[in-house]
Amino acid sequence: TAPLRIAIAGLGTVGIGLIRILQTHPQMIAARAGRPVEIVAVSARSKGKDRGLDLSAYAWEDDPVALARRDDIDLFVEVIGGHEGPAKEATEAAIAAGHHVVTANKALLAHHGNEIALAAEETGVALRFEAAVAGGIPVIKALTEGLAGNEIARVLGVMNGTCNYILTRMEDAGLTYEEAFSEADGLGYLEADPTLDVGGIDAGHKLALLAAIAYGTRVDFDAVELEGIGSVTIEDIRQAADMGYKIKLLGVAQMTGRGLEQRMSPCLVPDTSPLGQLEGGTNMVVIEGDAVGQIVLRGAGAGAGPTASAVIGDIIDIARGLRLPAFGQPAASLRRARAARAAVP
Ligand code: HSE
Repeated sequence: TAPLRIAIAGLGTVGIGLIRILQTHPQMIAARAGRPVEIVAVSARSKGKDRGLDLSAYAWEDDPVALARRDDIDLFVEVIGGHEGPAKEATEAAIAAGHHVVTANKALLAHHGNEIALAAEETGVALRFEAAVAGGIPVIKALTEGLAGNEIARVLGVMNGTCNYILTRMEDAGLTYEEAFSEADGLGYLEADPTLDVGGIDAGHKLALLAAIAYGTRVDFDAVELEGIGSVTIEDIRQAADMGYKIKLLGVAQMTGRGLEQRMSPCLVPDTSPLGQLEGGTNMVVIEGDAVGQIVLRGAGAGAGPTASAVIGDIIDIARGLRLPAFGQPAASLRRARAARAAVP
């Protein structure tokens, strides 16, 4: 059978993690995909850099847009990041060229997911983004496939591992916010722009994507009520602990009588609950469906292996011929949701 020929734009943590999986398990992947998955070409900012892997078999493009337009590929993997610039241009170029797209880019989809999904649908290509939400946790597949017959009451969870790490260190080691932030920085956890993490923006992007899928609405990141963790003090954490609670940066999406509520903010969660027990840099997503009840998914929300695990899963689905709509139903049928503003406290 003809191989699925892929191009990878971005050779950072996720791109390299993906190549590692493809180089390590080619037979397993071919067996599951029903055909070989072959890397044809790659692009990244710096060509010479030693990335610890042999990339000599792949064609090189300096420009991700040129990579996206190549006529010898079937699928374009966008792991550059950022919601404007090359990631957006290359993704649009790939779709226009008739190539399937797999992306890990939450910011891009939170801002432009509606248009991009529509373009993919009109061109007849697949768009998948499991890695964009909660890294290695297959939460998008859970919502769009396994739970597709449920009316969703609520989706909530901890969707930024860095914030969870900072809050956990404040709780466990008595560090101040500043000390825990520096520690996370030293470990390389923070995004290049740390406000994305601590301002709740990265987590807000993910919540907006989950809300769209759960409620059949268009992605509306601007309607997410956002509050980061920058104002959480050690005193807040101690007081919460005295009452048997922990403070977590919690995202909640639910349909209320007033409309769709999307909120990302520091919240009290009971110490003994699964969310209260969530340690360090991990993620947890809780889904409540009318038929299934409550599902709790927990795992690594970032890192080479976990994020690449989600990307390769999407690639294998496409190689198998699965053409699921990106947001669980045709983009053209997604509704515009009325945003529920919380009552002023
Ligand atoms: N910076 C994110 C986190 C990972 O800490 O969870 C990618 O979204």
